[in-house]
Amino acid sequence: MIPTPHIEAKLGEIAETVLMPGDPLRAKFIADNFLTDVKQYNSVRNMLGFTGNYKGKRVSVQGSGMGMPSIGIYSYELYNFYDVKNIIRVGTAGAISPDLKIRDLVIGMGACSDSAYAKQFDFSGTFAPIASYELLESAVNAARAKGAKFNVGNILSSDIFYGDKGIEDTLKWSTLGVLCVEMEAAALYMNAAKAKKNALCMLTISDSLVTHEKTSSDERQSSFTDMMEIALESILAL
Ligand code: HPA
Repeated sequence: MIPTPHIEAKLGEIAETVLMPGDPLRAKFIADNFLTDVKQYNSVRNMLGFTGNYKGKRVSVQGSGMGMPSIGIYSYELYNFYDVKNIIRVGTAGAISPDLKIRDLVIGMGACSDSAYAKQFDFSGTFAPIASYELLESAVNAARAKGAKFNVGNILSSDIFYGDKGIEDTLKWSTLGVLCVEMEAAALYMNAAKAKKNALCMLTISDSLVTHEKTSSDERQSSFTDMMEIALESILAL
């Protein structure tokens, strides 16, 4: 299955740990600003992927696109066809907890979802998609070492950005302590579970469904950069 319909890399060109932003240009930003000895391995559909070194550790960065169908494709191919062991999504989310402010860092321990992604497994109950404990612990250690404030908890992966039911329906998840909403983590966690691999989702809050605050593009860039540094430091321990 290599190359796949979506990734043109040869076997061995992708590292065992992959950082995965939604936006492929963020993957390029990470490669350009944090990695050395960079080689681009994918340009199919402009979903850019690069492999390089961070402080001597080999790592890849790969865009996922938006939503669970898209990250479902890229993570499936990386885990099952390219021998990737760890995928760390680095993205943005909307706060649904009143305790979160824009630019805050959230590490997703579990991912609730309104999507049908889990139906393929045909369980007679609900599966709880969770992060890899090893990746979670490494991320927490790296955040502490940097002196960064962080929140670890449950997040919501939604299929719907512009919903007919309005934001009240999304905010209801906060009654069970769900922190924020994004659109990818649950599918990533399910693909990792099925492939017996590791996944983690780290998010910066780009907007709040509670206060309606939004980050400026400069704020998004700087909070993303802070999170990237934590994600990259966390993989040194793996
Ligand atoms: N909803 C879904 N995904 C998001 C949001 C949001 O409000 N903000 C950033 N990613």
